[in-house]
Amino acid sequence: MTHIVVLGSTNMDLVTYVEKAPQRGETVTGREFRTISGGKGANQAIAAARAGATVSMIGAVGNDAFGTRLRSTLEHSGVDTDLLRTVEGPSGTAHIVVDDKGGNSIVVIPGANGTVDHLVPGDDSLIASADALLLQLEIPLAAVLAGARAARAHGIRTILTPAPARPLPPELLAATDLLVPNEHEATTLTGRTDPAAAAAALLDQVPEVVVTLGAQGSLYAARGAEPLTVPAPQVTAVDSTGAGDTFVGALAVALTEGRPMRSALAWAGAAAALSVQRPGASASMPCRPEIEAQFAS
Ligand code: RIB
Ligand code: NA
Repeated sequence: MTHIVVLGSTNMDLVTYVEKAPQRGETVTGREFRTISGGKGANQAIAAARAGATVSMIGAVGNDAFGTRLRSTLEHSGVDTDLLRTVEGPSGTAHIVVDDKGGNSIVVIPGANGTVDHLVPGDDSLIASADALLLQLEIPLAAVLAGARAARAHGIRTILTPAPARPLPPELLAATDLLVPNEHEATTLTGRTDPAAAAAALLDQVPEVVVTLGAQGSLYAARGAEPLTVPAPQVTAVDSTGAGDTFVGALAVALTEGRPMRSALAWAGAAAALSVQRPGASASMPCRPEIEAQFAS
């Protein structure tokens, strides 16, 4: 098994399922409320562990009931949490409204994730032992940058999901090997609305880019290579929360195991397609045999 380290967020997702999300000033009656473990970092960790890697998570939970549950969800998925701190105060929460088309809107309150603004002793040697480091943007940028630089210093491949969308310092992109934005994030980073044009523009700053295109699959671009587009299996989405994280976690497993890019993208797309057919972020992530079966079909 390959070893993947994730430096990032844990959130308790407070999810409301409703036919149609309310407009500003409107009140609607929803169908159901659930609390489901989430956070982009923890989601990627769980996705990678279920996809078949040994995974360690660096981050923080609060000293509240959500924190206890977030840690135990990670552990039950086989993720090593030795370097997941418990800090004074509330855990991160994400307030999510999911509509009948499986689309969502999310407000994140960082809580404990806001305390992850530097590496602590142990983080560096854990990163040095990894086959890949996965990063996202739900912890302070200072720590994301420190993690990317540590990985670069040890020759470890860094995979950055630039979500939630925001402009990024050039130093962070300079320490990134593979950038995986969705279409919206790719536009935020480049001002280009066409994913292929955005990916091409990003190659000025990073050597490899995968733009995730939801139901349309994904697009890969690398310096000096022909871009390639890989379609996604056509499925009916009930909840796409965490689908991008599922894709990245599975992609990291496939790439660290040495799969060629086209096959790795199809494999990750299979994992994401399975996840959107079930509610919740971590709760919907497939395990390896399911991914293999979907990939083969
Ligand atoms: O990427 C999905 C995640 O974003 C959710 O689990 C939620 O926690 C938000 O951070
Ligand atoms: Na889902």
